[in-house]
Amino acid sequence: MRTQIAIIGAGPAGLFLGHLLHKAGIEVTILERKDRAYVEGRVRAGVLEQGTTNLMKQLGVDARLKKEGLVHTSTNLAYDGEIFRINMAELTGGSTVTVYGQQEVMRDLFDAAAERGIKIIFDAGDVTLHEIESDHPFVTYKKDESEERLDCDYIVGCDGYHGVSRGAIPASAYTAFERVYPFGWLGILADVPPVNHELIYANHANGFALASMRSPTRSRYYIQCSVDEKIEDWPDERFWDEVCLRLGPEGSHNLVRGPSFEKTIAPLRSFVGEPMRFGRLFLAGDAAHIVPPTGAKGLNLAVSDVTILGEAFAEFYNLGSPKGLEGYSARALKRVWKAERFSWWFTSIMHRFPNTEAFDRKMQIAELSYLKTSRAAQTTLAENYVGLPIE
Ligand code: APR
Ligand code: PHB
Repeated sequence: MRTQIAIIGAGPAGLFLGHLLHKAGIEVTILERKDRAYVEGRVRAGVLEQGTTNLMKQLGVDARLKKEGLVHTSTNLAYDGEIFRINMAELTGGSTVTVYGQQEVMRDLFDAAAERGIKIIFDAGDVTLHEIESDHPFVTYKKDESEERLDCDYIVGCDGYHGVSRGAIPASAYTAFERVYPFGWLGILADVPPVNHELIYANHANGFALASMRSPTRSRYYIQCSVDEKIEDWPDERFWDEVCLRLGPEGSHNLVRGPSFEKTIAPLRSFVGEPMRFGRLFLAGDAAHIVPPTGAKGLNLAVSDVTILGEAFAEFYNLGSPKGLEGYSARALKRVWKAERFSWWFTSIMHRFPNTEAFDRKMQIAELSYLKTSRAAQTTLAENYVGLPIE
């Protein structure tokens, strides 16, 4: 088999890229290890930057997003029992974010891919990259017990943090930068109305809490927990008590409790590998970098990577210029590091860090108190939260 671009992974990065290239008239084949139900079913974040909703519109996959997406002009921060609102739209000249779960985004992308004939091979096992330093790279994989080979011009690794693509770059040509945080997030989904029409991020002496949502009838809540915490130790009532305590009386007085139908613990990590291109292999999304979830940048960052890469491939195939491809890694990394900085900073001011001194807590409170009153500080948060431009 032959294709122009072999994409590994049908997560948000792989699917958005598949649609972008298809639209530019470039032939793609996407190889996915799991099946559609698995990929679509994973519960992830649900806050889309303006650039992400713009891309969905540009690709013509925004019909449900327009109807069901919840546009948020503001967000809220809480600490020491106080809550204040940051009006992001006002501070950024009209930018907003849209609450629309990643599961919904995936459903829209998969439906449209099927209609448009974008080729996705599910249940592709043992995906292996070959000869990425040559002019004729190829990928081998197993499908229904038979060995397959896919020849291509370029390979794009969109296979997430645990994928195989990143490992195809020789260690001598690759540098990883990493910070692992000493806590995780325990998250639940419940079919109860959200406590507030906007998100509330809370810093409490017990640790971070977040009140988020998926729809007017479905809530998503998180609390910071230790990494070795056990789900069984968090029955719903204990979770609700703790989230209410951390959101504070004002933040939680409307909170409606109900049975959770999803409960998981996720670790927090910052990670960037450089470069994002080696030979004929490009990396995009979580395969190239990870952010902690504070600020909801993961999906949006995958989208900005593939926007840059899609443009570069279109320039190459349709205009004959390799410039965009040559500049991809540097251009993408510029924005990646800014999103890393924001996610790291937002994580660092909102969480309880074990074994730190009373001084550090005082610094967090001072920072939040400054944010509460300074328009300059709020503008900084707002412009990062709604998404920085691609330079
Ligand atoms: N071969 C084929 N497919 C693979 C392989 C492999 N060896 N390894 C992983 N995959 C697939 C996974 O099954 C998954 O569907 O690659 C996909 C990677 O998807 P994500 O992990 O979601 O990564 P990405 O598309 O970069 O998503 C970026 O969305 O899901 C969130 O947390 C994620 O916020 C991040 C953003
Ligand atoms: C979510 O709704 O899952 C969510 C929202 C905001 C974040 C992280 C996660 O910062």
